[in-house]
Amino acid sequence: MTAIFAHRGFSAIAPENTMAAFRAAETAGADGIELDVQLTRDGRLAVIHDEKLNRTTNGQGYVKDWDWKDLSRLEAKYKFTEADQDIGIPLLEDVFEWMRENEIICNVELKNNEFAYEGMEEKVIRLIRQFNYEGRVILSSFNHYSLTYVYRLAPDLETAALYSSHLYMPWKYAEAIRAGAIHPNIRTVKSEIIRSSVENGIHIRPYTVNKEKHIRWLIEEGCTGLITDDPKAALAIRDQVLDT
Ligand code: G3P
Ligand code: CA
Repeated sequence: MTAIFAHRGFSAIAPENTMAAFRAAETAGADGIELDVQLTRDGRLAVIHDEKLNRTTNGQGYVKDWDWKDLSRLEAKYKFTEADQDIGIPLLEDVFEWMRENEIICNVELKNNEFAYEGMEEKVIRLIRQFNYEGRVILSSFNHYSLTYVYRLAPDLETAALYSSHLYMPWKYAEAIRAGAIHPNIRTVKSEIIRSSVENGIHIRPYTVNKEKHIRWLIEEGCTGLITDDPKAALAIRDQVLDT
């Protein structure tokens, strides 16, 4: 069954990458959440999409130039100006702590494409081990050097290659870099890619899938998962498809 992942949490109704969005995803019944991590100046794993604070928070400048004690005071309401609960920037460990209460799968996207964030992989892996979440966390990145580094450090963890262009036979590429999954932009996905990936044991979870026709198609094709801003809508479509 195609697993439904809430992109940056239930970001259609709550500020992205906040506990409010993750809790909303759980309430909606999502199988998983997707989130983004950046590294602060003092080496903490902050859950936020952009390298800069400007778009989603009331702070400014690069995350890498802030210490956590100051970052933790910011609000990350983004466009949800009325939101008033759980709207701070979480640490990855806060999300992992919350996951003790549920069975949510967590796709951690390492946002180390613009800045390499030395030591980020080790910190994330250490946290996964601390919580015994080896079977509940998928590590993805557009930086595939980072994914191969994760594989070297922790071959038991599932890595997922994010990409947005038309990669040829991406399931073969995933095997070559020892990734257990591909996370392609939905624009690049073809039925053959879904079928060959699944047949070859490579998980495939396209992003960001918000159109009904795409969600229906992926579910009918037996795609491993999909990443959407609106997990509630995707779950309703999955129910319909499974009923027919
Ligand atoms: O992980 C899928 C998707 O989140 C990648 O793109 O820009 O939304 O982080 P972006
Ligand atoms: Ca992401």
